[in-house]
Amino acid sequence: MAQLWGGRFTKETDQLVYNFNASISFDQKFYQQDIRGSIAHVTMLAKQGILTTEERDQIIDGLNGILEDVKTGKLEITSKYEDIHSFVEANLIDRIGEAGKKLHTGRSRNDQVALDMKLYVRDEVIQLDELVKSLLETIEKIMEENLHTYMPGFTHLQKAQPITLAHHMGAYFEMFRRDRGRLTDIYKRMNFCPLGSGALAGTTYPLDRNYTAELLDFDGPTLNSMDSVSDRDYVIELLSALSTIMMHLSRFSEEVIIWNTNEYGFVEIDDAYSTGSSIMPQKKNPDIAELVRGKTGRVYAALMSILTTMKGLPLAYNKDMQEDKELTFDAIDTVKGCLALFTGMLATMKFCDKVMEDSAKNGFTNATDAADYLVGKGVPFRDAHGIVGQLVLYCIDKNLSLDDMSLEEYKTISPVFEADIYDAVSMKNCVERRNTIGAPGAEAMKNVIAENQKYLKEN
Ligand code: ARG
Repeated sequence: MAQLWGGRFTKETDQLVYNFNASISFDQKFYQQDIRGSIAHVTMLAKQGILTTEERDQIIDGLNGILEDVKTGKLEITSKYEDIHSFVEANLIDRIGEAGKKLHTGRSRNDQVALDMKLYVRDEVIQLDELVKSLLETIEKIMEENLHTYMPGFTHLQKAQPITLAHHMGAYFEMFRRDRGRLTDIYKRMNFCPLGSGALAGTTYPLDRNYTAELLDFDGPTLNSMDSVSDRDYVIELLSALSTIMMHLSRFSEEVIIWNTNEYGFVEIDDAYSTGSSIMPQKKNPDIAELVRGKTGRVYAALMSILTTMKGLPLAYNKDMQEDKELTFDAIDTVKGCLALFTGMLATMKFCDKVMEDSAKNGFTNATDAADYLVGKGVPFRDAHGIVGQLVLYCIDKNLSLDDMSLEEYKTISPVFEADIYDAVSMKNCVERRNTIGAPGAEAMKNVIAENQKYLKEN
């Protein structure tokens, strides 16, 4: 057991207590951030004349040595230390002696851990953002290639109106673009430096908190030391944004799973992204999509957990807050994995254009257009709706689609129908005539695709 705070105690900590209290098994994940923060701290202390430049240089050399040795595996982080802060400080003192004991001047583990967690989350937000961006690029490419790939659009999972694959993909582009927006917002809001807040009430040393903040690429220091050591809002915001990303990925996965069934046959998942069955030789399962859908639960769980942990905490720091880490780390790693795999699966997936188009034709997705046709001939919409309803019944009975009916058959149901009805219900026309902003027509979609390209270039 290596503890930083033995002085006041007359007895050894019980081993079970030590184990229960320790966080080294998980906070070692941010050893780089911990060292980076310490280097900034001593740089500032020396500038303020609180440490000499020799002491500063000795400490920084020592810290860089520890960093290097942990990275290369020469120095192992073990459970002998309570947490990552103790590990770094104890090793520093081992290496450089007296000067090492000055590292913690004007600092508490409370502002130190607040900083480490922020630095870690901030780095991860950038990586997550890049992963969402490459998913967007993959979606955009599918959109560009499928402006005229017709498929049924669904409501209630019932065929509703014809759309294009570009349009369907475009819906996900919007969702993931908003997800990126949330990550950007979180970054901006969290980017203030808590270091220098001490345990809760600042310190008596003349710290230059603006300088520390600058060294660590923050937009400035936090303005209330009690808030600084007890704020985990940004963790909650991140987990909320990650939950939303997973919700989107999960919906998308669900569609891929449905589209990949024999019954739909809209897509074929690449062999590299599917798995077989140990007993049924014919199977090619969409496991990746299913796992992404399944892992959504644990990311939501992380959000619920931290919300619940924080809800009853009096100011300022409480040990409960140590519980902010494990599930957050797990959620971040989970979402990164899901984003990368889903993007790979999507990029290699084959879309079966013909099947999708036939499916749109056979499901009366052009029924609204037939009604609109009648409206164009002066029939009130409500009557038109009824007439087309009868057409559909007739077709179901005869196993026909609207395009297959003869003009005579049309006319027996309503004399208003003329030869131009075929034009009105053709799949292509049904889609291509819809060109209001946000609609699936190629003219409208081209503008969206151009806007997406501009966004991806600038962001
Ligand atoms: N391991 C602790 C955490 O993660 C570090 C802060 C400890 N501070 C304290 N006063 N015990 O929150």
